[in-house]
Amino acid sequence: MTAYITALSENTAGMGDFLAEWGLSILVESDNVRVLLDSGTSISAVHNAETLGIDFSQIDKIVLSHGHYDHTGGLREVLRRIKKEVEIIAHPDIWQAKYHRRKTGERFIGIPFQREELESLGARFRLSAEPVKITENIMTTGEIPMVTDYETIDSGLFVKLDSGLEPDPVMDDRAVIVKSEQGLIIILGCAHRGMINTIYHARDITGISEVQAVIGGSHLIGASEEHLWQSITALKELGTQKLGLCHCTDLPVISILAQEFGENFVFVKAGSRIELP
Ligand SMILES: [Fe+2]
Ligand SMILES: [Fe+2]
Repeated sequence: MTAYITALSENTAGMGDFLAEWGLSILVESDNVRVLLDSGTSISAVHNAETLGIDFSQIDKIVLSHGHYDHTGGLREVLRRIKKEVEIIAHPDIWQAKYHRRKTGERFIGIPFQREELESLGARFRLSAEPVKITENIMTTGEIPMVTDYETIDSGLFVKLDSGLEPDPVMDDRAVIVKSEQGLIIILGCAHRGMINTIYHARDITGISEVQAVIGGSHLIGASEEHLWQSITALKELGTQKLGLCHCTDLPVISILAQEFGENFVFVKAGSRIELP
């Protein structure tokens, strides 16, 4: 069973007619099924899919890793290209009013559409806190327990409730898992609840301990030295065979990972396609 992981939207563009934007969208193909994890921020996912000759009408399911704009803002264009009803698997909290607070003020960073508009374009939301099985070998995590002592939620993330802005535990954060013969392939959105927490949870819910690949956003951007190096140690202890961390990993961290993991590190850019046995 081969899995193909294609980055349709990423912060950096690969060589060719690809667009880059701050955001993430990854196509996962395995078991004869095409699952789209996230949609990027705007038009890059559909543009880059066209460049790669990927026909969106062939997409079987969409998974949303969480409700931030840089993973959901491309949904309108994606749904217009899919041109049929499509199930969107996500957590109910994706529809919370999500904000980012900085010294300069607060900014809305939630889904930039009304649910009704997306439904009128064919979206059929399947919202659940639990893991969702898509095929025999492809599933999503549900809510991710935080068990490591070095991974924390980004303190700039909030949700707007009746009581005002409250810290966002990002319960909606989830990843896609492919169970391959060589171990787990884990595709992350932003890993707001911790990349290593996500891997541990994937191992728990599948009963598979080998980790073939970890690809996607790690939220190691701006991580403390301790957080970064504990994560690197854990990835090595887990025997991670291939690492393609991108998006909210940020280039300075990516360069450290590239050095630490050598030929096992893949620099994932818009247009990158990874084949995994
Ligand atoms: Fe995010
Ligand atoms: Fe993100």
